[in-house]
Amino acid sequence: MAEGTGTGGSAPRGPGDVTPAELAAMDRALALARRGPAHGPNPRVGCVLLDAAGRTLGEGWHEGAGTPHAEVAAIAAARASGADLAGATAVVTLEPCAHTGRTGPCAEALVRAGVARLVYALDDPNPAAAGGAARLRAAGVDVVGGVRAEAAGDLLRVWAAAVRAGRPFVTLKLAASLDGRVAAADGSARWITSAEARAHAHALRAEVDAIAVGTGTVLADDPALTARTAEGTLAPHQPLRVVVGRRALPDGGRLAGPGGEVVHLPTHDVDEVLAALAAREVRHLLVEGGPTLAAAFLRAGRVDEVVAYVAPVLLGAGPAAVADLGVATIGAALRLAPRAVERVGPDVVVIADAPGRTPGPADHQTPADDQVRAGVRTEEDR
Ligand SMILES: NC(=O)c1ccc[n+]([C@@H]2O[C@H](COP(=O)([O-])OP(=O)(O)OC[C@H]3O[C@@H](n4cnc5c(N)ncnc54)[C@H](OP(=O)(O)O)[C@@H]3O)[C@@H](O)[C@H]2O)c1
Repeated sequence: MAEGTGTGGSAPRGPGDVTPAELAAMDRALALARRGPAHGPNPRVGCVLLDAAGRTLGEGWHEGAGTPHAEVAAIAAARASGADLAGATAVVTLEPCAHTGRTGPCAEALVRAGVARLVYALDDPNPAAAGGAARLRAAGVDVVGGVRAEAAGDLLRVWAAAVRAGRPFVTLKLAASLDGRVAAADGSARWITSAEARAHAHALRAEVDAIAVGTGTVLADDPALTARTAEGTLAPHQPLRVVVGRRALPDGGRLAGPGGEVVHLPTHDVDEVLAALAAREVRHLLVEGGPTLAAAFLRAGRVDEVVAYVAPVLLGAGPAAVADLGVATIGAALRLAPRAVERVGPDVVVIADAPGRTPGPADHQTPADDQVRAGVRTEEDR
């Protein structure tokens, strides 16, 4: 194993200072972290405890708010198997927390357990929880950060961006015809996209904390706003169902049926919506339209990501997916940076970062940023 930076035993150490066993344990910890729920206020975290010979003593992952953090779960698993943790190495995907939330600080739990070394991937972006690495270093623990930081950053992309921005990460979902329309001239909108695309969208709903639509969509479509499984049953996790707009909601209707709690926010102020949802610990909001609400979020610069389903259907008339954005000339177009383009049944889904998005942990100079710049330059050069 390489030595530290030479500025003293307590200096932060980089990702080069790890053993192959620790790297393998980090990959395992990342896989464990993925077992946790994508929704909820807390990050997905995994932890593996190793002995001095690199053998696994215990593993754990965080299963959601109110349950033990990954480190505490791994300590419990190790103890249950009778392992001695004195001198152990903790390999964790996120810097151990230093605060007491619903559970106690993990940094303290690791020190009390006798852990001598910590290898972690990502610094905690949450100012309320950060400082765990420093606390462990102060207790004499050898600390190495930044190991597999990119993979951990990808895993925590939405959560970390939401925590940094202090508001929910916003995904705007669109489902449009090939000519960009979300309803026919008579207002009918069921269904433009295929059953496969709708199943894809339901899987997305099952991963978010809240879904928002405008009152116009509720009055026109009477949507249930539930997350359903491929079999058509309700998914175990149901997001909050948020309706934005001043008109009263109709009594009854599908929103009165089973699903997440219905929250009516009688406002047109996008930041008021986000603040109200942040207060409910919403980290990931899926805005599902209609065109007026979509445009409001885009104009406010509060869309981080767009997931657009495009069906090979032509309507020729009917509302566009997004209402007026105030774009008067092509140079002012809102250009997105695509991350993925996939076939979904007969349709296509484009997943793209929006320019106003909040920076994530691995976003200092991403290919996506380059694409945005390249796109803008091409236009200017013509
Ligand atoms: N294909 C699809 O995926 C899809 C998805 C959704 C909707 N749609 C279609 O879209 C159509 C409805 O369009 P829509 O634009 O009326 O729907 P909308 O965006 O859901 O609702 C518009 C209403 O939201 C309220 N609102 C909330 N925030 C606002 C803001 N910042 N600025 C202005 N208004 C705000 C206003 O109502 P108040 O007067 O109550 O304040 C406004 O009239 C329907 O035909 C529906 O089928 C299609």
